[in-house]
Amino acid sequence: MNYSTLSAAFERHFGAAPALVLRAPGRINLIGEHTDYNDGLVLPAAIDKEIRFALRLTGTDRIRLRALDFEASYEVAVADVAPLPGGHWANYQLGVVAGLLKRGVKVPGFDCAFGGDIPSGAGLSSSAAAECGIAWGLNQLLHLGLDTMTLAHLSQTAEHEYAKVMCGLMDQFASLFGRAGHVVELDCRSLEYAYFPLDTTHARLVLCNSGVKHALGDSEYNTRRQECARGVAILQKHKPAIKSLRDATLPDIEAAKAELGEVVEKRCRYVVEENQRVQTLTARLVEGKPLSEVGELLYASHAGLRDLYQVSCAELDVLEELAHHAPGCYGARMMGGGFGGCTLNLVAATEVDKFIAFMTSGYQEKAGRKLDTYVTNLADGVGELRG
Ligand code: GLA
Repeated sequence: MNYSTLSAAFERHFGAAPALVLRAPGRINLIGEHTDYNDGLVLPAAIDKEIRFALRLTGTDRIRLRALDFEASYEVAVADVAPLPGGHWANYQLGVVAGLLKRGVKVPGFDCAFGGDIPSGAGLSSSAAAECGIAWGLNQLLHLGLDTMTLAHLSQTAEHEYAKVMCGLMDQFASLFGRAGHVVELDCRSLEYAYFPLDTTHARLVLCNSGVKHALGDSEYNTRRQECARGVAILQKHKPAIKSLRDATLPDIEAAKAELGEVVEKRCRYVVEENQRVQTLTARLVEGKPLSEVGELLYASHAGLRDLYQVSCAELDVLEELAHHAPGCYGARMMGGGFGGCTLNLVAATEVDKFIAFMTSGYQEKAGRKLDTYVTNLADGVGELRG
């Protein structure tokens, strides 16, 4: 949906032209999975799949939302904003409004129409895009002057309180802070970040969408957070300096093994190793190491997510396993929260077509499923769209 079709759809629906049109991208994550809520390191990027928003203040006290892709509308008075049951699509926008109200912002009535091309349930953070887009747009229209990191936190809180997923900061950070052609490393403890160029003339990032989203995803996500917190509480007794898994080492975990128990020990070990992999990967990018050395870290990350953190699923494992034999593939892993969604594959630019053909027929044969693939480009974070 380009600027003019979106503006026209907005005008048709609400009877006036929008005051602001903007785009909010989805994200990939090169490495650093389930590390964000453990004060760790992540290496995401915004991508060229996005939600586009058209907005206008109305001078009333009503919020009117129009989801163009599924032709649904929702309307509520600002004073009545509350979480909607049943995973309602409007929760992302309403959650952001609620966050602003909590900060003492007098949110006036507004109209908002939106639509996009981020496949839902694919682990590309369409929900973060939905939150960040509205947060950025209202910040502009209301001249709130909130900085971009505050917008990321506001959007993350919307996810916690309205979508009821206790996510870390990565997705919202990536959607807001992305830069074309770059991945960005975020230290989720200090909130310092650094951009690393990813040269796509030699290798492309190809997403293979498993097409599944297991219902237990959200509840298992919240369980993993609790398991990590339990791990920290035990490790702390042995070494008080450990405030989060970011502070733990493998010998610390080994020393507390008996008390941690098998499951929590595995979770802790995975997080410590994954943080290490993020650092190794950025070092290899900076040193210009062969892509196979970057790719092997992706395979190692997948193994940890599958065997230690246990957030993979049969379909994702089939895709990762196929990738080992696929033409031009340097490395692959499941991406995002897990239990479905996409694998991320680092593929030689010249071999992308052969890679996709191999994966498509392999997935059909081994999982009996059709494979959707996306060759992604790394994009800028949320910003205005002009006509
Ligand atoms: C989801 C969450 C993120 C992050 C990833 C796993 O995408 O929203 O905060 O925890 O899972 O890395």
